[in-house]
Amino acid sequence: MNNRLRILAGNWKMNKTVSETIQFCELFKKLLHVILAKTTRGEAGIQIIIAPPFTSLEAAKKAFEGTLVKIAAQNMHWEKSGAFTGEISAEMLKEAGIHTVILGHSERRQLFFETDGTLNQKVMRGIEERLSIIFCVGETLEERQSGKTALVLKRQLDRGLKGIEKEAMKNIVVAYEPVWAIGTGKNATAEQAEEAHLSIRHILEERFDRETADRTSLLYGGSVNADNFSEISKKPNIDGALVGGASLDPKSFIEILKRMA
Ligand code: PGA
Repeated sequence: MNNRLRILAGNWKMNKTVSETIQFCELFKKLLHVILAKTTRGEAGIQIIIAPPFTSLEAAKKAFEGTLVKIAAQNMHWEKSGAFTGEISAEMLKEAGIHTVILGHSERRQLFFETDGTLNQKVMRGIEERLSIIFCVGETLEERQSGKTALVLKRQLDRGLKGIEKEAMKNIVVAYEPVWAIGTGKNATAEQAEEAHLSIRHILEERFDRETADRTSLLYGGSVNADNFSEISKKPNIDGALVGGASLDPKSFIEILKRMA
């Protein structure tokens, strides 16, 4: 057993209005309460994070006040402020009480053309503003089939974390999300996920040191549900999950937590 933080994070993407958010939160809190009552270990040391769309951040934050659930943003801009129509800054998040942000999700990379370079600027800004960051990496199907998975992970981590000091890694969690597994219903096997997580740990060791690599929490994401995650979460280098589809329903999200606990 290591002493890395275990994390269950839900990424709602572009789903849920404010009223749907409130509905989710009320039911999820009830379900969580039942689990907490049944365990003597709190949430068994698992940090729960939920990332709703920007418009629901405030409602979610309010609903989970006084609980251990953290609310995260799904994205932010790298500049402090300025003429960036449609964007949100770190300072705006912080004033709204949000101290965690997902950066580098493959949908941002692929559909919104975010590059390793701009993601690096975002990571730098996040660290400067003392935000916690869930930094996503992962290969496409084509890259996997041509044996490039480890290379792609290395490129994304080297470039995305360029200029980041090892101290700052205390505020960064890496999520391995193979693009071919996201939203496809086709999850990585426990072996494939563990192999990629080991590569990530080696890359972090090379880039920083053994201690930093050992202490960084690594999450798996890509079609996670309670059934497939029981197996995946047993692997020694998998410290939790970043869940899309199955995080939208309080019952399926809580089921994943139960299997982890
Ligand atoms: P999924 O999404 O669980 O719906 O595959 C995961 C993610 O994009 O973080």
